[in-house]
Amino acid sequence: MRLLSLRLILSLILGITAVSLGFSYYEVLQEKRALEKDLERRSEVLGESIAGTVEKAWEAGTTRTLQRQLQRYSKRDNLLGVAVYDQHGTPVAVTSELGAILKAAPGDVTKAISENHAESSFVRLDRNRLHILALPLHKQDEVAGGLAVVHDADYIHVQNLRTWREAFLRMLVQVFLIVLITLLIVRWRIAGPIARAAQWMRALRMGRLSSTQQMPDLDLFKPLAWEVVTLTESLNQARSAAENEARLRESGESMWTADRLAVQIQTRLDGGRLIVVSNREPYIHQRNGKSLDVSVPASGLVTALEPVLCASNGTWIAHGSGDADREVVDSHDRLRVPPHDPRYTLRRLWLTKEEEEGYYYGFANEGLWPLCHIAHTRPIFRAKDWESYQEVNRKFAAAVLEEIADVSKPVVLVQDYHFALLPRMIKQKRPDARVAIFWHIPWPNTEAFGICPWQRQLVDGLLGADLIGFHIQSHCNNFLQTVDRVVESRVDWEHFAVLRQSHRTIVRPFPISVDLADDETLETDQYRLNYVERSTLLHSLGVEAPFIGVGVDRVDYTKGIHERFRAIERFLEKYPKYQGKFTFLQIGAPSRTHIKRYHDLLAEVEAEAERINWRFQSGNWKPILFLKRQHSHKEIDSYYRAADLCLVTSLHDGMNLVAKEFLAARRDERGVLILSQFTGAARELRDALLINPYDIDQTAEAIRVALEMEPEERQMRVHRMRKTIREHNIFRWAGNLVTELCELRLDGGDRVPGKSRGGGVAA
Ligand code: G6P
Repeated sequence: MRLLSLRLILSLILGITAVSLGFSYYEVLQEKRALEKDLERRSEVLGESIAGTVEKAWEAGTTRTLQRQLQRYSKRDNLLGVAVYDQHGTPVAVTSELGAILKAAPGDVTKAISENHAESSFVRLDRNRLHILALPLHKQDEVAGGLAVVHDADYIHVQNLRTWREAFLRMLVQVFLIVLITLLIVRWRIAGPIARAAQWMRALRMGRLSSTQQMPDLDLFKPLAWEVVTLTESLNQARSAAENEARLRESGESMWTADRLAVQIQTRLDGGRLIVVSNREPYIHQRNGKSLDVSVPASGLVTALEPVLCASNGTWIAHGSGDADREVVDSHDRLRVPPHDPRYTLRRLWLTKEEEEGYYYGFANEGLWPLCHIAHTRPIFRAKDWESYQEVNRKFAAAVLEEIADVSKPVVLVQDYHFALLPRMIKQKRPDARVAIFWHIPWPNTEAFGICPWQRQLVDGLLGADLIGFHIQSHCNNFLQTVDRVVESRVDWEHFAVLRQSHRTIVRPFPISVDLADDETLETDQYRLNYVERSTLLHSLGVEAPFIGVGVDRVDYTKGIHERFRAIERFLEKYPKYQGKFTFLQIGAPSRTHIKRYHDLLAEVEAEAERINWRFQSGNWKPILFLKRQHSHKEIDSYYRAADLCLVTSLHDGMNLVAKEFLAARRDERGVLILSQFTGAARELRDALLINPYDIDQTAEAIRVALEMEPEERQMRVHRMRKTIREHNIFRWAGNLVTELCELRLDGGDRVPGKSRGGGVAA
């Protein structure tokens, strides 16, 4: 560091000296020229006046007094003397001082005489610096001799030396001041932040800080610091992945991690390109006054698919729904995401209000959603909405085809019930593309699905895919039964595949999951951590009850929120000792409120909570706290960890990730999960207290059992369920889906064996 400063100072000194020297040299030169010009001018004026006098004397033939007359001029400033010569250069009259210096006629004089014009020059004679002005002298217009006016030019040299000396002194002061100021600036604005940054980076490296935590004021180095943050995060991820891998190898386990998924995806794609299509986008840009906010929607879909996209540098096509989404895309409606560490492309598609109304709110959410969920809300099918649905599917298909136009091995993952027609639309144009669709919601039985006026078109659209995924086997079975009844095809029950018009589609369950990230903190530390967190959280909510329950849902009629509240009411009624002691925190994210049923539901749920609260509340205590807003993943996590139990009472649900998220958050292995038997998750999480949400008494009883369960049993159950989730995590879901899709044969040679199931025509 010291050596560095020394080098810096030396370079500064050299640099500033060189520049100053240049300027001083120029200045001295200018001054010298000005002084010489001044002397030349003065000499000319004097020379012309003397020449006039001498010529007049010659005309009058009175040259005898010339010597005396000339002597008068020798007293002037710096004038050394004057000399007059005849036309042969022989001196006629020379002032006395000059006579001692000039032994012969100077060259300038002989030249002035022979060429008949004035000559002026600076010369060095012995040690003297002189200026000589030579003028021709005339008699009757003929050159009759020459005149030399000689000045001492030494003072110019002296003046030059003085100027150099002053410049040098000035330069010294300048160098000193500039070096001093520069060093001070470097110390305050650069060395200080560098030292702080180094200290902070060391703390990061040693794991004493989380990357974004306590970033000091790094002034000019902020952009660099952000790069370091990203780098540290990547390094930490790589480090923990390596540790994880080593640990797994050690224990002989074969667990799925984000890194394993990345390797798997790259191998399976084999140079191909991955395209994901979903209605909801992974990043939403919104205007907030002058700033631009970017948010990640609270959706399991993003957690699930982002590692796949990052691993493959693929493209995610989705509806651009943020009010500032258009401001950040390029001319092809694309942008690179994640914003802080761009790894894949997001291609946004724009929908008109009418399209959104018909396709999303209408057909997808008022038609297909209730149709598939069988939650006793009537599906509404409008021909206008169906038109919109087809139109938007065509629009997305066009975007996919555009993205894969020059791609040789495209792999397309379509997400959900918004795009039932997309697989066929893509395959019609690009039979070489591998297309899968994952249906995130249940598939009902044939009779229930049969009420949809366009069931045949929907099933046909889906069968365009090479692979159709559902969460659980029974949804696959329901789908194949529907296919069997609705379209002309052969269903292979043995291999769970459909052959229609020479195209084979396989149907498989892929239970979606979450990322259960274990950390090193000891269980007991976790418990202490949760305890502190719980007190802070409850205090901030003004809740004092010793027992806490939690529910986290989009406010949707499929979630059984009414049933849940009524079960809480029944529990308090049946077990009054819990009155004043048990509070249920319901996080309800308003959803699709543009649809009347959802809008009304929000008010109904609120009224129901109020009714029950009014019935039981006393003092500061009330049984239900309804928190009606979108919460971040981090906030929700602290609710999960504060709770004694989590209630999931869906009337029907494809999977329900809340159940898995709750368990993933419980690193302390405490808390009880009460889970509806009508969720996909109930197939895997057998250690939850399984309930029929329509059975209010049963749910009320489950709440009591949960609160009174022995700690050992509680821990054993959570431990087993966490193990299931750890082994069947989100990376396994994505890995299996992509692997299955990339491994199947596209040539149709793998014909469906066995007998034809006939295949009914549309009902
Ligand atoms: C639930 C379903 C998903 C669906 C999503 C749509 O999470 O399980 O299958 O994609 O809702 O929600 P949105 O708010 O985008 O309508």
